Amino acid sequence: MKILVTGGAGFIGSAFVRMLARETDWHIVNFDALTYAGNLENLAGIAESDRYRFVRGDICDQELVTSLFASERPDAIVHFAAESHVDRSILSPEPVVRTNVNGTFTLLEAARRSAIARFVHVSTDEVYGSLESPLEATEEFPLNPSSPYSAAKAGSDLLARSYFITFKLPVLITRASNNYGPYQFPEKLIPLMIANAIDHKPLPVYGDGMQVRDWLYVDDHCRGIRSVLEHGREGQIYNIGGNRSLPNLEVVRRILELTGRGRDLISYVTDRPGHDRRYALSSEKLMNETGWRPEVDFETGLARTIEWYRSNASWVDRVRSGEYRTYYELNYGARAEAMS
Ligand code: NAD
Ligand code: DAU
Repeated sequence: MKILVTGGAGFIGSAFVRMLARETDWHIVNFDALTYAGNLENLAGIAESDRYRFVRGDICDQELVTSLFASERPDAIVHFAAESHVDRSILSPEPVVRTNVNGTFTLLEAARRSAIARFVHVSTDEVYGSLESPLEATEEFPLNPSSPYSAAKAGSDLLARSYFITFKLPVLITRASNNYGPYQFPEKLIPLMIANAIDHKPLPVYGDGMQVRDWLYVDDHCRGIRSVLEHGREGQIYNIGGNRSLPNLEVVRRILELTGRGRDLISYVTDRPGHDRRYALSSEKLMNETGWRPEVDFETGLARTIEWYRSNASWVDRVRSGEYRTYYELNYGARAEAMS
């Protein structure tokens, strides 16, 4: 089995590559552009393996993608590569539409000209948009994305699905809830709050902090994707949720408790434009069809994640240097001022 993983140097993609390297004898080709979010340090332990190959490149580069499929002849592709951050998609939508839509299109085109047996397109619960309690999205729910990020992901989902319907490309789509765990870039809620708490810096909570997200430990997500890859039905969509919904403020309070910091660090800042209030997913289909379940409860996962960030201060320092500072000022500078 040879698997092509796109975006394998990012947060979830690298966890998936590490899992496959640990648990299978498959050959893995990791294709990643190494944007600000891609980091080969995440794969340091397996870089020397003769079952692993890294190729640096852009999924929008049609020539490179075509030659990669021709030279590697992968049996399956798991497609993680994306611009993954909602706030950045609001500050600068162009790269988001380019990578998430055009990049996915480029891969689908190359795949349909190859003999690929599985194309797993990794997507998100954000495509269902904000849901009133107690609704939980099943795979049949309408798409109702709010941000340039989620709209571009919804666009790529529909394109992927069309390649199954029109060309019989063996596409499977996963839609997961909010991931957390080691190696997550500290632009997302949990790692940003952990890193700031450790440094005694303000924790910027958008709006009233009562937006609800469903938290999924990254390794549970990766096991879910593998279940879909190995046992899912072609043309189907599978939700992968953590079954642990919490308001953001509750998550932030727990981080403060576990890092031994006071609530005075909480700083309410201007809300995210178009901010979705609540995401909620039903993963019944995946559980019933494959037996998959989330295994890491939120308390264990959060404690493990905080411990990882404490023990990997140099990783955090490196990814927060340079470009991160510009982004932080752009995203949070005006927000904090508006509230002070
Ligand atoms: P990430 O931002 O940590 O990593 C993205 C990776 O894609 C990086 O390694 C980056 O270098 C690479 N990449 C970006 N543009 C590229 C391009 N044009 N060509 C090649 N490589 C490119 O993202 P993540 O959080 O690991 O998310 C991975 C996937 O999972 C995304 O598709 C995202 O939509 C989806 N997802 C994420 C979450 C979450 O909570 N993080 C939840 C559900 C679904
Ligand atoms: O739901 C799945 C999605 O989860 C993935 O598709 C995305 O790739 C991933 O980034 C994530 O999107 P969110 O927008 O939900 O994640 P983020 O960590 O950016 O924000 C989580 C919540 O926390 C959201 O309600 C906004 C809020 N927030 C976030 C940041 C970064 C804050 O209050 N303050 C912050 O500084």
